[in-house]
Amino acid sequence: MARSAKKTTVTAKKFSFPQARGDMLVIGIYKDTKKLPQSLTSLDKTADLVLSSLLKMGDFSGNANETALLYPPSQKPCKRILAIGLGERKSLSLNTLRQAAGTAARNAQKLKTPNIALALHTVIDSKIDLTELGQAVAEGAIIGRYNFEDYLPPQKDKNSPINNLRITVIDPLASAARKISAGCRIGTILANSQNISRIVDNKPGNEINPPSLARHARLLARQYSLQCKIYDDKQLTTMKMNGILAVGSGSANKPRLIMLKHQGRRANNKSIDAVIVGKAITFDSGGISIKPSANMEAMKFDKSGGCNVLGIMAAVAQLKLPLNVIGLIPSAENLPSHTSYRPGDIIRTYSGKTVEIQNTDAEGRMILCDALAYAAKMKPAAIIDMATLTGACVVALGEHHAGLFSNNSALQKQLEKASQRSGEPVWALPSGDEYLEQMKSKIADLKNISGREGGACTAAAFLGAFVEDVPWAHIDIAGTSDTEKEKSFRAVGATGFAVRLIVEYLNALK
Ligand code: BES
Ligand code: MN
Ligand code: ZN
Repeated sequence: MARSAKKTTVTAKKFSFPQARGDMLVIGIYKDTKKLPQSLTSLDKTADLVLSSLLKMGDFSGNANETALLYPPSQKPCKRILAIGLGERKSLSLNTLRQAAGTAARNAQKLKTPNIALALHTVIDSKIDLTELGQAVAEGAIIGRYNFEDYLPPQKDKNSPINNLRITVIDPLASAARKISAGCRIGTILANSQNISRIVDNKPGNEINPPSLARHARLLARQYSLQCKIYDDKQLTTMKMNGILAVGSGSANKPRLIMLKHQGRRANNKSIDAVIVGKAITFDSGGISIKPSANMEAMKFDKSGGCNVLGIMAAVAQLKLPLNVIGLIPSAENLPSHTSYRPGDIIRTYSGKTVEIQNTDAEGRMILCDALAYAAKMKPAAIIDMATLTGACVVALGEHHAGLFSNNSALQKQLEKASQRSGEPVWALPSGDEYLEQMKSKIADLKNISGREGGACTAAAFLGAFVEDVPWAHIDIAGTSDTEKEKSFRAVGATGFAVRLIVEYLNALK
C-alpha cells in the first residue's frame, strides 16, 4: 500500500545544551550573523569553537537552507554539527523552520546518521507557538525524507542505509518539550498523509489506472477505518455519469468513481461537513486532441488531486476529526483509440446539462462536473475540489502558488488562512458569470473549452456551474502538484501540495 519502507520518528525531549546525544546536532543561524548568539556560546565552547570559527571565516552567510557541516575535534557534544541558515531574522516563519527540518532530514539521509538532535529553534526569541513549531518541524522532516525510489534497486549494504531516522527536538525546558512533542504528533500525521499522496502520485501510468487506484483506496480505507464505495463503469452507466464515462471511453482501463467517508459525528448524524473532490486522470495523453510528445510523461501526475484526497482522508481518520467528511475521486485514463470520445460529441452529464466537446484534452472538467454535481446532491456545508486542471494556471502563477477559486467569500477566507498555516500558498483568481458566458455553446448548454484568454478562470467557471448553491472552492494545482527542481528540503516528483492545507481547513472546523 501507500507506505514507504523508511520511517521517520520526530519527538521532543528535555535536554540542555551543550549536551546532545545522537550522531549529529542541528542548529539554526540567521543571515549575516557576525557574533554567535548567547544561546549558542556554551555549545561553541564544548565544540572546540567550531561555530565561532565558522562565522569568523566568513564561509557561511546564513541564507535560508544553506548548510555547513562541522566536526568538533574532540567529538563533543557529538561527532557532527550541522548549521542551517534561517535567512533574515525578521522574516522567520514556520515555513522557514519546516524547510530547515527538511534540509536536516535530507542531510541525515545522505550522511547516514540515524539519530539526530534538532535545536533549530534555540536562536528564536520570538512569538512562535511551540506546538506549531513542533508540528512544522515534524512536517518538514518527514516531507524532506521522502524520495521516489520504488523502481531503483534496494541498497545492498545492510548496515549503511538508514531505514529509521530518529529526530529528537531538544529543549532545556520540560514544559517546552511537552508542547513541541504535542505538535510533533500532529505534524507526523499530516506529513505522512502528504507522503501517501506522493507515493501513489509518483507511480507511473502502467501501474496506476482507475481500477488499480480504486484498489489502493480500498486498502487505505481498511487501514484507517474509512467507509469505501467504488462505482465501476457499469454502475457509472446506470447512474448516468456520462462525463466520466466519455473521458474513460478510449482506454481498456475503465473509469471509476471512488468514494471514501469518515463518519466523525455520531452514527445517526448524516449531515456532511465537507466533500473533498480530486481529479484523478491516471494518464492524460489529451485523447483524440492529442498532446505534443515533449514532457507528456509528466501527465502521470494528472491524478494528483485524487491522490491528495487519499492522503487527506487518511489524516482526517487518524486525527479523529469530529466531522463527517466525504472524499470523492473521479478517475479515468484519457487515451486516443477507436472507442474514444471525440471533438464534436455532445455529452449529457450527470447533472442533466449537455456539454459540447471541442477538445478532448479539456477532460478534467468533464469528470469533475459529474463528481461535483453528485457532491452537490448531498447538500454538504462545503465542496472543495483539487485538480491539475489547466496549463493556463501554470502560466499565470508558476509552480509556487496554486489558483484558488470560490463562489463563497467566507470559504475562500478559511482556505486562505489554512494555506498560511500549512505553508502551501494559494492565490485567489476570479471565476464569475462573465467567464461562464465564454463557456456557453450554440448547440448545447456548455462547451468544454473557450479561447486562450483566462483559461484557468473559464475552466473554474465551468466547474462552478455544477455545484448549485453549495459553498464551493476549486484549487488548480496544475503548477504545484509536481516539480522537476530538487530542493535541499524536498525531492523531485509529486509534492502532495494541498493535502495539509485541506486538513488544516477541516481541523479548524471542529
Ligand atoms: N492536465 C491538463 C492540465 C495541465 C497542464 C496540468 C500542464 C499540468 C501541467 C489538462 O487536462 C489540460 O490538458 N488542459 C488543457 C485545457 C485546454 C485544452 C483548454 C490545457 O491547459 O492546455
Ligand atoms: Mn488534458
Ligand atoms: Zn488533464
